[in-house]
Amino acid sequence: MKTIFQVQPTNRENRPRLSVVGLGKLGSPMVAVFADKGFQVTGLDINPQFVAALNEGRAPVEEPGLQELLDKNRERISATTDFADLVRHTDVTFVIVPTPSGSDACFTNKFVVDAVTKIGVALRAKKEYHLVVVTSTVMPGSTDGEIRDALEAASGRQVGEELGLCYNPEFIALGSVIRDMLYPDMILIGESDKKAGDILETIYTASTLSKPEIHRMNCVNAELTKISVNTYVTTKISYANMISEMCDHLPNADANVVSSAIGADSRIGKKYIKSAVGYGGPCFPRDNKAFAALGRRLGVRCDLAEATDRINDHQLVRMSDVVDAHLPENGCVAILGLSYKPMTPVVEASQGLMLAELLADAGRKVVAFDPIAAENAKSKLGSKVTFASTTQEAIDQADVVVVMTPSPEYASLKPESFSTHGRVRVGVKASLSTYIVPGRSRLERDTVTQRQVRAA
Ligand SMILES: NC(=O)c1ccc[n+]([C@@H]2O[C@H](COP(=O)([O-])OP(=O)(O)OC[C@H]3O[C@@H](n4cnc5c(N)ncnc54)[C@H](O)[C@@H]3O)[C@@H](O)[C@H]2O)c1
Repeated sequence: MKTIFQVQPTNRENRPRLSVVGLGKLGSPMVAVFADKGFQVTGLDINPQFVAALNEGRAPVEEPGLQELLDKNRERISATTDFADLVRHTDVTFVIVPTPSGSDACFTNKFVVDAVTKIGVALRAKKEYHLVVVTSTVMPGSTDGEIRDALEAASGRQVGEELGLCYNPEFIALGSVIRDMLYPDMILIGESDKKAGDILETIYTASTLSKPEIHRMNCVNAELTKISVNTYVTTKISYANMISEMCDHLPNADANVVSSAIGADSRIGKKYIKSAVGYGGPCFPRDNKAFAALGRRLGVRCDLAEATDRINDHQLVRMSDVVDAHLPENGCVAILGLSYKPMTPVVEASQGLMLAELLADAGRKVVAFDPIAAENAKSKLGSKVTFASTTQEAIDQADVVVVMTPSPEYASLKPESFSTHGRVRVGVKASLSTYIVPGRSRLERDTVTQRQVRAA
């Protein structure tokens, strides 16, 4: 069986034609980035609206820079709902479908298995080599286990000379997906064999602007590396927040000063060692829980991951205690920032949303605002809180204001913004390091302000 393309990064004509199954928050930006680097890319989704959007040149999901890249590369992008079409016209297929957490906190593979089964069936009508790349986050053992079994059974081929299989996750954060794809620190390739890994390495050499370290290994090592990276980062976050709480109780201690000095040690590094609100979003919390669940399944102690999780849950209680300490009787608290980080409408495991809910459930009056995540937050919070239509409108109703994300929207807030109607308002700027107490003579710092939100 012959390979229909040569591995030559500098020659656009010989490049493999790529396809991406799953056009969601990760898949759509991936289509756009590959197309921008000169690859022909076909997208597929079971959601016909996403397919239609891509064919019409519209971004199926919100992500900074995505629409611009789609506009620029329209002639290289198409989309379909037909797996046979996709497999016939492309050489490499990336699978980026959901892997929801099960009741045991492990990721489930049913959507990945469904996708590779359909790819396998379509491969029966194709003679040439095809490479299948799993990009979804999966439990260690999945790619070379049930995913490989499903692909081989459906295609009637063995993984090897005729069929490549790789595990290749992305290390991205929503809101900066395109930048993160273009400038990765590392490319992680779990490969069935050298041929499959070579093809994938060539694609990334052509489509990244940084010179990332490329780590090639077998699939189970790559799967474990992926969740270990996220778990290590969450451990750093909870460690910083543990120090921050110690500083709350030590007279004259300042968590910002301490964590900045800790980060100067090159063995530790400055990233993610800032005290702030807890981590949230679709990856960090569940990756950490899955890592601990894997340990339990293997009979390995994962105390560190479990403690990280408990410390993170505790941050919400800390924030709520601070609000309560400042909130007058029958007062109103404004929560600014309902997405799990700025520049995204995603509210999954968002600290702002969870704080609003916690306070509302405790009988507090809560007004909330977010520039782009308000609609998604409304569908989760319902009538528990009221929603303001601007930042100032939320502040004007509140006695305590909590800024939960470092959105540019809030960066311009000044003490005057908080001092309308002659009422005293307390701004707990969780993101910006300054704690504003209008009505007093000067800006005051407080330990609370040391909880700086970071991109997660
Ligand atoms: N979003 C992130 O920040 C992020 C970061 C790293 C890894 N991941 C991982 O990437 C994977 C996808 O995440 P996402 O956020 O892009 O999900 P998403 O829900 O935004 O998008 C998934 C898309 O897959 C489609 N789909 C579902 N089943 C399908 C099937 N059988 N065939 C074709 N299409 C199908 C859905 O319609 C949807 O459009 C998950 O495993 C996730 O853990 C996500």
